[in-house]
Amino acid sequence: MNDAIREELLINTKKWIYQAGDNIREQMEQAFKIDTKSNANDLVTDVDRATEQFFVENIKANYPDHKLIGEEGYGDKVESLDGIVWIIDPIDGTMNFVHQKRNFAISIGIYHDGIGEIGLIYNVMDDVLYTAVKGQGAYRNDTRLKPLNDEVRLETSIIAMNSIIACENKRINEKKIQQLIIDSRGTRSYGSAALEFAFLAEGIIDAYLTMQLAPWDFAAGFILVNEVGGITVQANGNPIDLLHNNTILTCNKQIYERLMNDYIELK
Ligand code: IPD
Ligand code: CA
Ligand code: CA
Ligand code: CA
Repeated sequence: MNDAIREELLINTKKWIYQAGDNIREQMEQAFKIDTKSNANDLVTDVDRATEQFFVENIKANYPDHKLIGEEGYGDKVESLDGIVWIIDPIDGTMNFVHQKRNFAISIGIYHDGIGEIGLIYNVMDDVLYTAVKGQGAYRNDTRLKPLNDEVRLETSIIAMNSIIACENKRINEKKIQQLIIDSRGTRSYGSAALEFAFLAEGIIDAYLTMQLAPWDFAAGFILVNEVGGITVQANGNPIDLLHNNTILTCNKQIYERLMNDYIELK
């Protein structure tokens, strides 16, 4: 992808994200419909659907040959990463959106032949936009993010994790996770994977571990974290797979080996 195309995509996507953010804040003031998907706690609202449709319409009108993966199903059936592929989560953190009216984000990753080119994560209620362009660094609004702290140690780290991970868990050795909770400085669970990636890139947390994310949860975050020197892998250390659900560890490189060797043991 050449610089001119990248620049145009970034400008348009930013514009649509800010418009979508305005729409979401407006729709929040009105009654919106809440449905459930795979289980009673897996929520989706009219606002999630309308936001995804808004992006699909704009992208298809401007870039008819691009492909699009969206959580709510308005995109294409994408089976390969050939060409330009947009990976969109219209609202990441729907439970927060419904219950808290804050702490949710729009997440958009743009890939070219499988390579992450542009990542955007918009914290809607805080009006903070994280952007990253491959090889050009990452930003929080207009402020360039620094490379991740190379002095951090496990003992001075804040680790974000999906809270379920510490409970009796068939897929990970939860005793070791409980030891991680003791050994690290503190843990957090924000309820929006995209924001957890963004907070890692910002350097306000040092790792994020979760046992299941979909491509739209991490597509933008992966690009953002790359640009500040962080690492993102599946929890077994394998490269992430952008077409399927993944376990995810994303972290500061300084604590990667410690996490993998001493705390993360998959069953
Ligand atoms: C969810 C959030 C949550 C994570 C879940 C995701 P959604 O996305 O990112 O933090 O733990 O696995 O499904 O459904 O709110 O877009
Ligand atoms: Ca969802
Ligand atoms: Ca999500
Ligand atoms: Ca979502």
